[in-house]
Amino acid sequence: MAEIIGGYFTSHVPAIGGAIHRGDQQTPYWKPFFDGFPKVHEWLAKMKPDVAVVFSNDHGLNFFLDKMPTFAVGAAAEYQNEDEGWGLPLYRPFKGHPELSWHVIEQLVADEIDPLTCQQMLVDHAISIPIELAYPSVAEWPVRLVPIGINTVQHPLPSARRCLALGRSVHKALASWSGAERIVVIGTGGLSHQLDGERAGFMNPDYDRFCLDHLASDPDALTKHSIHDMVRLAGTQGVEVLNWIAARGALGPGAREIHRNYHLPISNTAAATVLLEPA
Ligand code: DHB
Ligand code: FE
Repeated sequence: MAEIIGGYFTSHVPAIGGAIHRGDQQTPYWKPFFDGFPKVHEWLAKMKPDVAVVFSNDHGLNFFLDKMPTFAVGAAAEYQNEDEGWGLPLYRPFKGHPELSWHVIEQLVADEIDPLTCQQMLVDHAISIPIELAYPSVAEWPVRLVPIGINTVQHPLPSARRCLALGRSVHKALASWSGAERIVVIGTGGLSHQLDGERAGFMNPDYDRFCLDHLASDPDALTKHSIHDMVRLAGTQGVEVLNWIAARGALGPGAREIHRNYHLPISNTAAATVLLEPA
């Protein structure tokens, strides 16, 4: 049977890609963020996942405001990285796992959660940066991807409760997959940040701490806020924590935190990096 080895959660601020490109990891601005990663590297080297089920949001690369799926599952054999406007260096393509993607899709539809299915999908900074952070010096990406997109961009957004249900349905699919894959679940984005409007630059360490403190032990606590509460508490883009909530659901019923790093600001974002293991 496949094994879910754990969950890796991190922010996906595009400026991180620039810092990696310039080799700025040890500069005073960047060090407190990159200091969260040796533990991630050690853990991945020990756990050796070969598939990553990644919950993230598209930022206008696959879906613009004219066509916006609430949930989208990639079922491609390969995913090209393209830059949607941040001037980031492009990464080599990521291999997919279409058989597992379709198994996930079958489970979601059986559970009456009906996603857009994408046999072609591009990968933006929300996936490329977390994977590059996880594997900074590899010749080949060690993981094949099952990308799952959540609309955190154009309202109406799915509720936190619905995102947790999405994740839990994905967990059923992963737990019933008969292959021998070692699966890491990834949630990207957040934590609190707002890029636009009167509150541009808004961050909220109190709400971030609430999310971090409940993610492993009581993810249902994160579903008590409505989307409008979440926008107020986390900022307009901080609602990307929906990706974390879904990824937590995919990990299974019990989880324990084995690593946490939190630092702000990184660009406009309160950045966090977390590892969870199933418990
Ligand atoms: C920033 C954060 C994001 O999540 C994103 O998608 C783009 C930019 C930022 O803080 O600069
Ligand atoms: Fe984002």
